[in-house]
Amino acid sequence: MTERRLFISFEGIDGSGKSTQARRLAETLRAQGHDVVLTREPGGSPGAEEIRRLVLEGEPDRWSAETEILLFTAARRDHLEKTIRPALDAGRIVITDRFADSTRMYQGITRGDLRGTVDDLHRMMIGVEPDLTFIVDMDPALGLQRALSRNGTEERFESFGEDLQTRMRAGFLALAAENPGRCIVVDGTRAIEDVAAEIASLTEARLR
Ligand code: ADP
Ligand code: TYD
Repeated sequence: MTERRLFISFEGIDGSGKSTQARRLAETLRAQGHDVVLTREPGGSPGAEEIRRLVLEGEPDRWSAETEILLFTAARRDHLEKTIRPALDAGRIVITDRFADSTRMYQGITRGDLRGTVDDLHRMMIGVEPDLTFIVDMDPALGLQRALSRNGTEERFESFGEDLQTRMRAGFLALAAENPGRCIVVDGTRAIEDVAAEIASLTEARLR
């Protein structure tokens, strides 16, 4: 099959089903013969995974909002250099579970209005956007219930609670409205199979 480079991100609040859907899409595309790299943020390269541990584990108040923006951006830069760009240059499809929209929402709106800082730093240090972003939309109460039921050590952000998730959901929907060429909102409250089928057909349309 002729390779076609495509950079896809999954975004949405915690527990919306991003990881599940990113994995499903990778499996579907691989079954069709595509060469797919499935990755995630924060992380996705050895250096960025080290930064992930710094930001997601330990004391929630460990970093100021500004330091956190720098750490997430540093992780993204390494991910881009070591994983994303080489894969796209080799003609592979890259699917990432979260990318810059997560920083725009989490660091941009949750601890004061820092969206301008996030965007400035993105322009300076990252400078690329996915070709396609699936925003998995989800009722925050259900998302939080699903996220907490996973019970991992990375509860730092999920412990922020439902109010914050509600603001973030509105933020993701606004972001989708601002970027209609790149972002597609999918209803994540449906069965896994139904969400996956919609995402697969939207992606296949882009690949044609
Ligand atoms: P996220 O990556 O957005 O935090 P996950 O994909 O990890 O979300 O899903 C969170 C939890 O909800 C997991 O336990 C997963 O199995 C479950 N889940 C995901 N999608 C659905 C769905 N459509 N219906 C029911 N449960 C789901
Ligand atoms: P993730 O492992 O995707 O969590 P979940 O599966 O619960 O969605 O991401 C971990 C947390 O990191 C999540 O709460 C969102 C947060 N995060 C940021 O605050 N800023 C960022 O730039 C990124 C990529 C993630």
